[in-house]
Order: sequence, then C-alpha cells, then structure tokens
Amino acid sequence: MVTAFAPGKCILFGEHAVVYGQPAVAVSIDAGVEVTISESNKWSLEGMPFEPSRHPHISHIINDIFQYSGSPLEIDVKSGLFSAAGLGSSAALSNSMGAALHHLTKPEEPLDLISLARIGHSAEANAQKGRASPTDTATSALGGCVVVSGERVEGTEHIFDSTLETPEGSRSWSICRAALPELEDIWIVLGFTGIGSPTGKMVAGVSELIEREPQRMDDIRAIGEITSSGLESLSEGNMEGVGLAMNSCHERLRNIGVSCPEIEGLISAVQNHSLGAKLTGAGGGGCMVSLTRHPRRVAECIEIAGGKPLISKLGSGGARILPQ
Ligand code: MEV
Repeated sequence: MVTAFAPGKCILFGEHAVVYGQPAVAVSIDAGVEVTISESNKWSLEGMPFEPSRHPHISHIINDIFQYSGSPLEIDVKSGLFSAAGLGSSAALSNSMGAALHHLTKPEEPLDLISLARIGHSAEANAQKGRASPTDTATSALGGCVVVSGERVEGTEHIFDSTLETPEGSRSWSICRAALPELEDIWIVLGFTGIGSPTGKMVAGVSELIEREPQRMDDIRAIGEITSSGLESLSEGNMEGVGLAMNSCHERLRNIGVSCPEIEGLISAVQNHSLGAKLTGAGGGGCMVSLTRHPRRVAECIEIAGGKPLISKLGSGGARILPQ
C-alpha cells in the first residue's frame, strides 16, 4: 500500500495574463489531495468499480504514462480542496496519483518532482483537450512559490522549461522558483463562492473580449507589470506591498470580465482585515484570496458573507510519499 499527497495552489498574481505570455506567481497551500493505492484482485476507485473514461487524469497516468500492467489497483482519494474552485484540485489529484504509482512500481527510485510536474501537466492537457498551462501542476509538485512565464524571470531560480502542443500551436513556458522569506505572521485565506469556476470558458471569454476590444490588452500588460512588482515585494517580505499589488491585480481582472457578484461580495466582506484581496484562478465563480495577519477573523467574515473559508500558510511543501 502506498499513500501520496500533493498540495493545491493559489495564484497570487497573473491568472489569465499568463495565457498571453505574462508571468504568474503561485504558491502551494496546506490542503491538497491524498491518493492511496494498493494491489488487489479487481480495479476500484472509492470502493466502486473503476471506470477509466470517467476519470481521465487517473487513467492517463496509469495507462499512457506508466503503461502499468501489474495487478489491479484499489484506489482511494481524500481531498481537502474545494473542487472546480481554482485551487488546482485536478493537478493535485494527477500529481498524487503519479507519485503513488511511481513509488509502487519503483520503490527504490526517489521521487523526482520535475518528472512528476511533467506527468501532472500531461494528464491535465490530456483531460483539457490540449489546453493547460503548467502553473497548477508545477506548483503542486514543487511546492513553495512558483513563477511561470513565457520568458525567464530575473531574480528567480530556473527549474525547467515546458512545451505543449495545443490546438492553437506550440506553447512554451519557463518554470522558476522564487524564495519566500520567513512569513510567520502572514496567512492566506481562500473563500469559495460555492460556484464552480469554468476555466476553459473563462479563458475563451477573455480571448473574445480582446478580439472585440483590443485595448483590453492594456489590462493584460498591466497585470504582467503588477505581477513583477508584487513578486519583488514578496521576495523582500514587504507584505503591505504584496497586498496592494493584489488589489491592483483584481481591478484589472475585473476589467477583463472575470469577476462576478459573489466574488465581489466576499472581497468586500474581508477588506477591513486584509492586506489585499483578489479573485484567484479563472474566476466566474471559484475562490477569492485574502492576504492577512488575522486569518480567523477573515474566515468568519467569509462565512458570514455566505462563502466557505480555507486558511493556509504560503508555499508549504510539494508532492510527497506519506509514511504508512
Ligand atoms: C487558472 O487557474 C489560471 C488561468 O490563467 C488559466 C491557465 O493558466 O491555464 C486562468
């Protein structure tokens, strides 16, 4: 029996703009997905017969990546993430499944997190018709603070490059890691609106908006600049600066039409107790994030406003095998 864990992620800056080659900054969060696999005499998932077509991430990893031909597996999944909420739950599922299967089939080989990030990205791309940035899977595999960009970003440590053939042609990203200072009295609080965030639809909506109103590219470029200054503040431990950059980023995300009344409601509810707040992920529902020194108070405000809170430190560890 093997159990693996992979964390979810929170994009601090740069969602949507990263699709246009601008940088994005994401941190891993404390909550994530745990997968336990054990050899059995029949295939099962959560005690039910395993149907590969209903679980494209898992079946891609078993069949296409590992070409697994061993005994049937009993697969159990425990998730601490809201699903379809912009917290990278499918990336965390792919990564923990990849990590668990790696350890089951090659127990003597240490887990290579870059290979795991590539496996996770392949599973995401396979399930999303070839359109997926490596942000979620790289952040979940590596942990910490990850910067994904069309070009290498100064002041960060380059980890690997990734290329994907998409229906729109070949796309490449550079994946880097930014060092996080000691952040003892700082938390992020995620607030889930309860509405699913349809990533594909939101990304397509931004592209249609830019076609109709080309001046919206100014917002995309501005998000890129805000991301760079937010990253600089983060590296210096200037959390007030990070909060201000988050607020400015949210204004630009609102301009490109990806916020919604429920996200706006949760953001207004936490403003008095936050250094900054914005939507995180694709928007249109999903989650907002508050950067705060008062996580319990912010969580209460989110609950009172009708959302579901999740408190986390910034940039906890990446994917790992858990002791039995
Ligand atoms: C979704 O978590 C982030 C987006 O930028 C999409 C992507 O990066 O592929 C909206």
